[in-house]
Amino acid sequence: MQVDLRIQRYDPEAGGKPHWEAYRVEADPMARVLDLLHTVKAEQDGSLTFRRSCGHAICGSDAMFINGRNRLACKIRVDQLGRKISVAPLPGLPIVKDLVVDMDGFFAKYRSVKPYLVNDTEPPARERRQSVAERARFDDTTRCILCAACTTSCPSFWSQPGYVGPAAIVQAHRFIFDSRDEGAGERLEILADADGVWRCRTIFNCVDACPRGINITRAILEVSGAIVGSSV
Ligand code: FES
Repeated sequence: MQVDLRIQRYDPEAGGKPHWEAYRVEADPMARVLDLLHTVKAEQDGSLTFRRSCGHAICGSDAMFINGRNRLACKIRVDQLGRKISVAPLPGLPIVKDLVVDMDGFFAKYRSVKPYLVNDTEPPARERRQSVAERARFDDTTRCILCAACTTSCPSFWSQPGYVGPAAIVQAHRFIFDSRDEGAGERLEILADADGVWRCRTIFNCVDACPRGINITRAILEVSGAIVGSSV
């Protein structure tokens, strides 16, 4: 089938502003948007710039604004979108070129919540053991691939760019509720800040945008509940 593809283009070295360009691509209905982008780059315009790595919804590098919603280009198929497809960079982040956005601020927020195991207690001889129930407590948030689809779909983030954002809170949740971790107090203090969890307005855009199906709003509510419970 023929697909009419509109791609937002922007080259800072050429000057001008972001603008739409149209391409017609022959595609199988089961092709993914990432396949279409590769076809355009290989056959029509080699200067088209976008990120991708794994190609299988694991690395999180090709989240884009596709037909009005944040999605992974390597996951969404032509048959799910129809013959007219528009692709733009993730909203709310500075554009570097074409579909590539500057993720530095996003990852700085991620690092700010200490996304690693904090435990200064001398470990047992073999391993820090955890029951099945303890592991299940944070299973949902282990599935985050840091694609930024959630944070950049959040109106609170658009209006308050200082907001730490859903992705960072999801990552904090993954460790706060890990029975082996001792850094929950520090993380809750960070997230009790004015730019922390209280900026969430439970709009649920993040849940709709997450390509991994994580219940992000529930995770945010569990973290804010922990803050209230700990009287941080
Ligand atoms: S290319 Fe890795 S998630 Fe899409």
